Amino acid sequence: MNLLVIGSGGREHALCWALSASPLVNKLVCAPGNAGIAQVAKLAPVDPLDLDAVLQLCRDEHIDFVVVGPEAPLVIGLVDHLEAAGFACFGPNKAAAQLEGSKGFMKDLCAKYGIPTAAYGRFSDGAAAETFIRKHGAPIVVKADGLAAGKGVVVAMTLEEALDASAALFAEPGAQAVIEEFMDGEEVSFFALVDGKHALALASAQDHKRVGDGDTGPNTGGMGAYSPAKVFTPALQQQVMEQIIMPTVNGMIAEGMPFKGVLFAGLMLTKDGPKLLEYNTRFGDPECQTLMLRLKSDLLPALMASRDGMLKDFDLRWKDDAALCVVMAAEGYPAEPRKGTAIEGLDAAAAEADTIVFHAGTKPGADGAILANGGRVLGVCGTGKTIAAAQARAYAAVDKVRWPQGFCRRDIGWRAIAREQK
Ligand code: AMP
Ligand code: GLY
Repeated sequence: MNLLVIGSGGREHALCWALSASPLVNKLVCAPGNAGIAQVAKLAPVDPLDLDAVLQLCRDEHIDFVVVGPEAPLVIGLVDHLEAAGFACFGPNKAAAQLEGSKGFMKDLCAKYGIPTAAYGRFSDGAAAETFIRKHGAPIVVKADGLAAGKGVVVAMTLEEALDASAALFAEPGAQAVIEEFMDGEEVSFFALVDGKHALALASAQDHKRVGDGDTGPNTGGMGAYSPAKVFTPALQQQVMEQIIMPTVNGMIAEGMPFKGVLFAGLMLTKDGPKLLEYNTRFGDPECQTLMLRLKSDLLPALMASRDGMLKDFDLRWKDDAALCVVMAAEGYPAEPRKGTAIEGLDAAAAEADTIVFHAGTKPGADGAILANGGRVLGVCGTGKTIAAAQARAYAAVDKVRWPQGFCRRDIGWRAIAREQK
């Protein structure tokens, strides 16, 4: 088969790496890809948001199956556009991608189908939002409705912070907000493949969203992740499948917009049980890197079964080993990452046992050089029997990378490792 993967991050490198091992794959193309993906796929310089250009690429490359990595093309209807022209895709159509594209849509679905989540209000004017905030008090959470790459959420610990966040949000014309109850607990990411009707649990992971050690500083897309999340027990997984994932799958059918693709549930483990923080309609980045390292089965048949409505009785095999990913970012990230600096030592890092370096934001330079080309630049991953062992492998590889203008956190996995040591 000829495969096209859409995207250019560490997630897409991990997906291409896993898919390139499938005996079913004849040709693997990635648009636009990065310098690491170029080692396993042919790169096509096509913008994923240019729907007609992606369609033309499918025709030119005789593509049989398309795997869409990031949310932005899903939300604008890339899958609808390609499927209408006869190209099979993995991922939700535009209507179903609203689960990620609109927080208000997701919250209304939860309310209608009894899915546990934080109590909330939806607002399109600042005065009503302010009244709601004053009524409920802090802590309280203020969210912009649309896609905001992780920057649209303010967890306000004081009333003043909440009012400021709301005022800033409604300073934009046409703004929509969800304001919700603050939930206390530990966060877990859980992934399930869905084929419209059936759901297949994948695995759990935890990520570190803050830029600094000890989970401090501004929010990012994720500075590291590990899988499995031991705090997410089989009993909790069953509870989440029954109370959150399946009611969502069935609710989407009832709404006339069946969901196909990967459902990424951001969960808060509260004292009252697991509650949904948010849905994403694609793999997490960098969580995907750790999932792909633990997957034993061929990924491609599972993605095809999701598209074809064939996931019932489908089985995937996972390694018991843990995987951990340390993100190396360009200095200045998340505000203003510096681009174009040279990264060396990648071969030495890759030569470390039980490690792999996925590229997230790189591009090839002259004479085989690898240049930083984004905020999150590398996902340095290790595997091992425990999270602690996987962490040791990952940092051994990090220490081989020579990139003075890059940085990483030194404590990825700390919570899970503390738990292992108990
Ligand atoms: P979201 O994009 O909705 O997942 O929000 C980003 C982050 O904000 C989450 O990963 C949580 O750390 C935090 N957050 C969002 N909603 C809440 C909530 N209701 N209570 C506590 N923290 C929240
Ligand atoms: N790492 C979180 C995300 O992909 O949204």
